[in-house]
Amino acid sequence: MIMAFSTLSEILTAFVVFTIASGSPLPHRDVSKPPTKDPFYSHASGFKDASPGTILKHRTPPGELGDFGTIPLNLQSSHQIQYRTTNSQGNPDTAVTTVLVPEGGNMSRLVSYQDIQDASYLNCAPSYAIQVGSDSNNSLSKSSSIFEAGLLSQGYIVSIPDYQGTQAAFSSGIQAGQATLDSIRAVLSSSSITGISSKHVDVTMWGYSGGSIATGWAAEMQPSYAPELKIAGAAIGGTVVNLNNTIHTMNKSQYAGLGLAGLWGLYQGFPSPELEKLLDDETFLENRTELESPRSQCAGADFSQFDGKDVFKYFRNGEGILNSSPLREIIEKAGVMGKRDVPQIPLYFYKAKGDQVNSIDDNDALVKSYCDRGISSLEYVRSSIGDHTSESMVGSGGAVKFLKDRFNGVPPTQGCKTSDFWFMDLDWDNFKMFGNELVGAVKAMFGVPFKV
Ligand SMILES: *[C@@H]1O[C@H](CO)[C@@H](O)[C@H](O)[C@H]1NC(C)=O
Ligand SMILES: *[C@@H]1O[C@H](CO)[C@@H](O)[C@H](O)[C@H]1NC(C)=O
Ligand SMILES: *[C@@H]1O[C@H](CO)[C@@H](O)[C@H](O)[C@H]1NC(C)=O
Ligand SMILES: *[C@@H]1O[C@H](CO)[C@@H](O)[C@H](O)[C@H]1NC(C)=O
Ligand SMILES: *[C@@H]1O[C@H](CO)[C@@H](O)[C@H](O)[C@H]1NC(C)=O
Repeated sequence: MIMAFSTLSEILTAFVVFTIASGSPLPHRDVSKPPTKDPFYSHASGFKDASPGTILKHRTPPGELGDFGTIPLNLQSSHQIQYRTTNSQGNPDTAVTTVLVPEGGNMSRLVSYQDIQDASYLNCAPSYAIQVGSDSNNSLSKSSSIFEAGLLSQGYIVSIPDYQGTQAAFSSGIQAGQATLDSIRAVLSSSSITGISSKHVDVTMWGYSGGSIATGWAAEMQPSYAPELKIAGAAIGGTVVNLNNTIHTMNKSQYAGLGLAGLWGLYQGFPSPELEKLLDDETFLENRTELESPRSQCAGADFSQFDGKDVFKYFRNGEGILNSSPLREIIEKAGVMGKRDVPQIPLYFYKAKGDQVNSIDDNDALVKSYCDRGISSLEYVRSSIGDHTSESMVGSGGAVKFLKDRFNGVPPTQGCKTSDFWFMDLDWDNFKMFGNELVGAVKAMFGVPFKV
């Protein structure tokens, strides 16, 4: 575990280096238009006829990409690419991915990093949020730059897809998985734009929490949706395995609002008269506006608005809403992992036993089901310390180590291996040395202002 932790210190050091090393004077850049008002995000003409993963538009991001939304990252180049994908209902859609190319990077190594949008509002899209000066209120994506910096420092090209698509279909695994796989297809064909190798590229994926939905579903959908893609490994943390269970677990906690945002994400991703009728029948006029607020705000606002609330009190039939048709069928189809193909990609799961977003029991059951069904390579690290938020940091060292090993050709685990990570495994000196950065980063993930 000391190995893993030194990788975490590499991430933090890289964050500092990438931040300080940048200092080129910036030309004036216009980041005033959020996705709902920026024509770049509207469907390119003829998108319906393009095959999934086709590049439809591209540009240099209007704003500099930055750490915590304020400090520009030091990059060789950056790009936004609009590509063709498929939405939750199987219809053509488009999505945007942001490609970050580090100075002197290896053009044959790509990490698809599924960021945390966690909101059913298009203006929280990572592509917009990570630009310096944008007024996106997605603080989760802004603070993820600490992980992106860690990857860039290894020389990897990083792609950050807006995997929720144009419907902001938060929590639809189908949408997220497909948009992730199509973003990889698009980036692999972008050599004339990004400089990525047009010959061989090693690809890995990484995602935590909301990003685990996209990464996990991409792994399950790859054999059927993108069988030609070879992906060397996927690291998946704080995994949201089962949407129904997670809404119950988060109820009345600081995360309660995420459950409602997830339901709106499905509502937007699976529009139908039946679903509209269910919502109309089951909700109250008095607080419908309040209930709908997650459709026009980011996760930080959802956290504070619904902090500690019993979200089932917005529905006449309480938690019965989740068992009502057609919502129940949609949750089962798009919100529960483990029902599709067994991933062919080597997997690395990391999860805190105290995860209060989706219980570790669900992750244990998912791992067991993949293993019972003969998955070829799966490592599972269960952390005895901490919770959903701390594990995003504590577990990241092991995740990056896993990706690094895949790029370096280290053979992945054969079959299944589960290990428990104990408090005494921590390298305490490293932990103390980076304690301040950890606390700062974790605070920023909760939307607490980060003071550099
Ligand atoms: C760049 O990446 C490719 C693919 O992983 C690898 O074969 C090559 O050795 C790497 N080059 C360097 C200089 O690390
Ligand atoms: C971010 O939040 C502020 C304050 O609530 C709001 O004025 C602004 O419109 C929000 N940004 C977007 C893109 O929604
Ligand atoms: C949803 O989760 C609750 C609590 O975990 C459980 O009682 C209920 O049966 C679940 N419903 C479905 C449709 O899985
Ligand atoms: C909502 O959360 C509270 C607190 O955990 C719990 O008592 C209540 O049963 C929950 N409601 C449902 C339907 O799970
Ligand atoms: C929404 O309004 C209904 C009807 O007035 C009320 O019973 C319910 O408690 C309200 N829900 C919340 C979460 O305030």
